[in-house]
Amino acid sequence: MFTNSTVFDCSVIDLSIVHSNRGNTTVAENGRGIPFDIRRVYYLYDIPGGEVRGGHAHFELEQLVVAASGSFDVVLDDGRFKKRVSLNRPHLALHIVPGLWRELENFSSGSISMVLASDKYDEKDYIRDYDKFINYKSL
Ligand code: TYD
Repeated sequence: MFTNSTVFDCSVIDLSIVHSNRGNTTVAENGRGIPFDIRRVYYLYDIPGGEVRGGHAHFELEQLVVAASGSFDVVLDDGRFKKRVSLNRPHLALHIVPGLWRELENFSSGSISMVLASDKYDEKDYIRDYDKFINYKSL
């Protein structure tokens, strides 16, 4: 159960940059400076202007969210506190712990949100109703 997780448990991790005169490289590799093993990667793109993505919480899933291109904001909510994190560099990854409501907004034109996730897609791991989320956090 992750009813006690808070927005303050989330932080931005610098995956670091391998610089070269041929351009930059950033790596996320299991066991090397990331907080969980990655089992799935997905990305959001071609997002219409003004659109908001997310709008759910996960019971168990952990994620790293990266602005692979462009910029957007992630608004985290633990039922008590909210925290807005602006992402705009491809080497910075926001670690989102389980049990937090999140919304992604303010997408710049052409932006890409890449998500590295700790498990496969499972609709049963989602809380998509905010009132149910608040009830869960008050357990
Ligand atoms: P959804 O969770 O609604 O997107 P977001 O919360 O990021 O705004 O997912 C969009 C659609 O993609 C929805 O039909 C479910 C599907 N989907 C998968 O099939 N597999 C996945 O791993 C993810 C993340 C989504």
